[in-house]
Amino acid sequence: MDKFVITGGKPLRGKVRISGAKNAALAILCASMMAGEEVVLENIPDISDVRVMIEIIKHMGARVTSNGDASVRIIAPSRAAADPPCHLVKKLRASNLLLGPLLARYGYACISLPGGCNIGVRPMDLHFKGLAGLGAQIDFNGGFAIGKTPRRLKGARIYLDFPSVGATENIMMAACLAEGQTVLENVAKEPEIVDLANFLNCLGAKVRGAGTDIIKIEGVPELGGCVRYAVIPDRIEAGTFMVAAAITRGSLVLENVIPLHVEPICAKLREVGVNVVENGDMLTVEAADASLRPVDIKTLPYPGFPTDMQSQMMAMLATVEGTSVIIENIFENRFQVADELKRMGARVKVEGRMAVVEGVPALYGTRVKATDLRAGAALVIAGLAARGDTEVYNARYIDRGYHRLEEKLRRLGAEVARP
Ligand code: EPZ
Repeated sequence: MDKFVITGGKPLRGKVRISGAKNAALAILCASMMAGEEVVLENIPDISDVRVMIEIIKHMGARVTSNGDASVRIIAPSRAAADPPCHLVKKLRASNLLLGPLLARYGYACISLPGGCNIGVRPMDLHFKGLAGLGAQIDFNGGFAIGKTPRRLKGARIYLDFPSVGATENIMMAACLAEGQTVLENVAKEPEIVDLANFLNCLGAKVRGAGTDIIKIEGVPELGGCVRYAVIPDRIEAGTFMVAAAITRGSLVLENVIPLHVEPICAKLREVGVNVVENGDMLTVEAADASLRPVDIKTLPYPGFPTDMQSQMMAMLATVEGTSVIIENIFENRFQVADELKRMGARVKVEGRMAVVEGVPALYGTRVKATDLRAGAALVIAGLAARGDTEVYNARYIDRGYHRLEEKLRRLGAEVARP
C-alpha cells in the first residue's frame, strides 16, 4: 500500500548511514549529458526521483548501467537521440536542469515545462533570462520550452534577481561550453552547487567560486569523462533524522555527514535544547531527557536555515511547550503540512508566509496524507512521537527523496511498516 503505518512512542536509538544527496545527484546526472566520455558516479541514492532521471537520460540515448553499489556508469550520446519524454518530465521538476546541458552540448533542447507543485508555482524565468544572456533563443509552445543556439553560446555577465538553485545550476552548466568567460552574480551557494561545480571541473570545465556569491566560468570547447565522482551526503536526510531523534527524545549517531553542510540545522537544534556533537564525518544527536524549548525559524538561501527542513521542524515544534514562529521565505505555499498536523492535535495558525506553532503535550495518531516530499517526512516524524497509530498516505512522495526510510527507522527502534 502507498502508506506508512507508525506506532509512536519509541525513542530512536542507534546508528544510521546517510545516503547521497538527492539534489546533488539529480543535477550531476543532467551534467553527465555534457560528458564526451564515460562517467562513473558513486554514492548515488536509490530513490525514485533518481530512477526517473536515469530513465529520462536513457530515453535521450545515454547508456546507463547501475552497478548496484550506489554507483552508476553513464555514456552520453554524441547527439541527443530524442527530447526528454513528457510523461517522465512531468513527474520530476528537476528535469528542467537538462535545459542548460542540452543547449550547450547539442545546440537544441525541448523540455516540457515542469508543472508547478504543491509548494509553489516554481517559475523558470531566471533560468530562461540567464540562458538567453548566453545567446540561447528560448521559445515557448504549449507547455514546452524550446531552446536553440544558432551558434556556440557566448560568455556573459549575468546577475540573478534571486539566488535560485536551479537557475544557478542551469546557467553554470551551459556556461562551461560557452565561448569566453561568464560571470554569474548573486548565485545560490548551496552545497549541491559546489558539488555540481566540482563534478563539472572533473570533466575538464573551468568553474571557480562555487559556494560564494560570484561564480566565474571559462568556457572550453568540449568536456571529457570522469573515472569516479562521489556525490556528497544528503544534508536534508541527515537533518530529517536529527529532528526525528529530537521529537522521540532519542540518541542517534549519523554516519557519512559533512558537518559544515548541516551547520544551520545543528545550530537551530542546539537552540531547541538538543545536544549535537560533530566528530569528523559523524554527528551525535542526544535528546534523551532533553527539555526542548520553542524557537523561531526563518527559511533562507544557504547558509540560512533550509526550506527543505521547515516542515520537519514544524512537526517537532508542535510537541514543544510554548510558542514557535516559522517564516517561510523561499516558497509561497509550503505550510500544507500544518493542516495534517492539526488532524493529529497540533495547534498551528498559518497567516501567509508565517506559521505560529503552540506546542501541545501530545500528538495523536490518525490518518494523514503527504502533500509533498518533505511534508511526508514531517508526518512520519510526527507519527514517531504520537500516541497510537499514524497512517501516512501518499508514501510515494516520501520515496522520492528517502531511500527505504521505513527500514532505516526500524533499525533505530521505530515501529514502522509499509503494508
Ligand atoms: C531546489 O529547487 C531544490 N530542488 C528544492 O528541493 C529546494 O527546496 C530549493 O532548491 C531551494 O533550496 C532540487 O535541487 C532538485 P529555487 P529549485 O530555484 O531549484 C523562485 C526538495 O524537497 N524562482 O532555488 O526549484 C521559486 O519559485 C526540493 O528536495 C523563481 O521565481 O529552487 C522559489 O520561490 C523541494 N524563478 C525560489 O525562487 C526562477 O526562475 C527558490 O527556488 C526560479 C526560481
